[in-house]
Amino acid sequence: MSKIFAAITGVGGYVPDDILSNADLEKMVDTTDEWITTRTGIKERRILKTPNKATSDMGLEVAKQLLQKTNTSPDEIELLICATVTPDMSFPDTANTILDKMGAKNAFGYDINAACSGFLYALTTGAKFIESGMYKKVIVIGADMMSSIVDYTDRTTCIIFGDGAGGVMLEPTMDGTGVIDSVLRSDGSGREFLHMKAGGSLKPATMDTVLKKEHFVYQDGKPVFKAAVNGMVTTVRQVLERNQLEMSDIDWLVPHQANMRIINSVGEMLDFPKEKVMINIYKYGNTTAGTLPLCLWEYEPKLKRGDKLMFTAFGGGFTWGSTYLVWHY
Ligand code: UT7
Repeated sequence: MSKIFAAITGVGGYVPDDILSNADLEKMVDTTDEWITTRTGIKERRILKTPNKATSDMGLEVAKQLLQKTNTSPDEIELLICATVTPDMSFPDTANTILDKMGAKNAFGYDINAACSGFLYALTTGAKFIESGMYKKVIVIGADMMSSIVDYTDRTTCIIFGDGAGGVMLEPTMDGTGVIDSVLRSDGSGREFLHMKAGGSLKPATMDTVLKKEHFVYQDGKPVFKAAVNGMVTTVRQVLERNQLEMSDIDWLVPHQANMRIINSVGEMLDFPKEKVMINIYKYGNTTAGTLPLCLWEYEPKLKRGDKLMFTAFGGGFTWGSTYLVWHY
């Protein structure tokens, strides 16, 4: 009997309407369009400004697109996994809030906190529920409202991040398309370089933590940059080797959108043509768990059945990994 794989049968994406441009940031912090563009490749990002809207609302827009595109009713959904570091609340999880808002009554859901690698962790996990034969309709969403945890007086972080969400529907196939293999890794010692200091059990919120701005993203960029390039290239090579593939067999590289220089370094080290690398960092910045599915959403019209995709990501934790997938439609 042929093996069951989890195929992506639909892609959804959502970015808020409000644009935060480099020109806007020049008025907020001591920076320039030239610095941001040459150091990161980012020109603008989207910011969710609608009152009382949050990560789940972006996820809901994605889920609605997925239902519509795959002709699925909410009650057919069995599982929804949401990768995010900006949940609506510390608990309950955002996945269940999305399920509630979309009216899915026969499902369960949970969040995965793996920062910028969250979508790959969630995609791999969701795929296993399909491969095991347990479920037939699984939604995987990567969604982050980074503006809720970014200090807009800190020029080292506020220029990087944006808000957005993307996601995929996973369904079983036996035709060799779908999620084929992943190498996922983590190294908790990397938390030193990328974290939020307060708001967890180690340092609960107090007036002092708020005054010290400890509820915002802290990043020491240089060590993260170096580890990101190494981690992404190493796991891509491991996935290639495990599947007897060369980079020349791959049709699309789908890298996490953290910094254009990281994307270029990874592409160059893998000797991969630039025109086959999915890129949208210039207009959305780093949307954390949202970057990979937002790339798919954008490039979906260019994809064709049988295309070989290599995803790769690196993020806070540290977390990183790569996933090999054959496109279904
Ligand atoms: O997605 C999760 C994983 N995260 C990443 O992968 C991010 C990895 N890191 C990076 O992308 C880069 O390290 C950054 C974009 C965050 C920073 O770029 P960099 O080339 O590593 O700059 P730097 O931190 O070494 O700073 C160079 C200089 C410093 O000034 P001095 O000390 O040389 O005088 C900074 O203070 O640039 C200064 N600087 C800025 N100048 C203008 C830092 N931020 C800015 C800014 N505008 N926004």
